[in-house]
Amino acid sequence: MRVKGTMAILPIVIYPHPLLREQALPVETVDTTVQQLIRDMIETVHAAPGIGLAAPQVGVARQVIVVDLSVGEDPAALHALINPEILAAEGLAVEEEGCLSLPEVRVEVPRATVVTVRGLTPEGEEVILEAEGLLARVFQHEIDHLHGRLILDYLGKAQRDMIKQKLRKRQREAMKQVAQS
Ligand code: NI
Repeated sequence: MRVKGTMAILPIVIYPHPLLREQALPVETVDTTVQQLIRDMIETVHAAPGIGLAAPQVGVARQVIVVDLSVGEDPAALHALINPEILAAEGLAVEEEGCLSLPEVRVEVPRATVVTVRGLTPEGEEVILEAEGLLARVFQHEIDHLHGRLILDYLGKAQRDMIKQKLRKRQREAMKQVAQS
């Protein structure tokens, strides 16, 4: 996509923010508001730095994702998709993943190795992409976000409870520090 106009780095919401568990709504009209959101999401994911970001992670419960394995190095590697859905998936591989909303957490996540994804471009045109390997994995991770699913959900219960407890404790400590300052 061509990136024009002003951009802003948006704050990324951190687990256990409730928005991370919400079902994001489809975008009905691709208008300048959505295009601005996409520009800001691109700026935000590059600044993080990260390779993918979903709108709920910046506080917007809408079906928008950006993926850029090059982290801003290669404009051709940038994918911004509205209302993305996985049409077909094959293969299976387990790899470690992180998430900008779950700092310092790494989880082994099984994913399809090849996916076909359909969505709308920032110009409102339908596209169908085939992705494999890491790109396929990141699409699946970001589309999970649109349905309130997080990498934590791929853990066994005991491990998940342990990590959740640690994250909540860290959040309480962060809030205590804010209260004291
Ligand atoms: Ni994530």
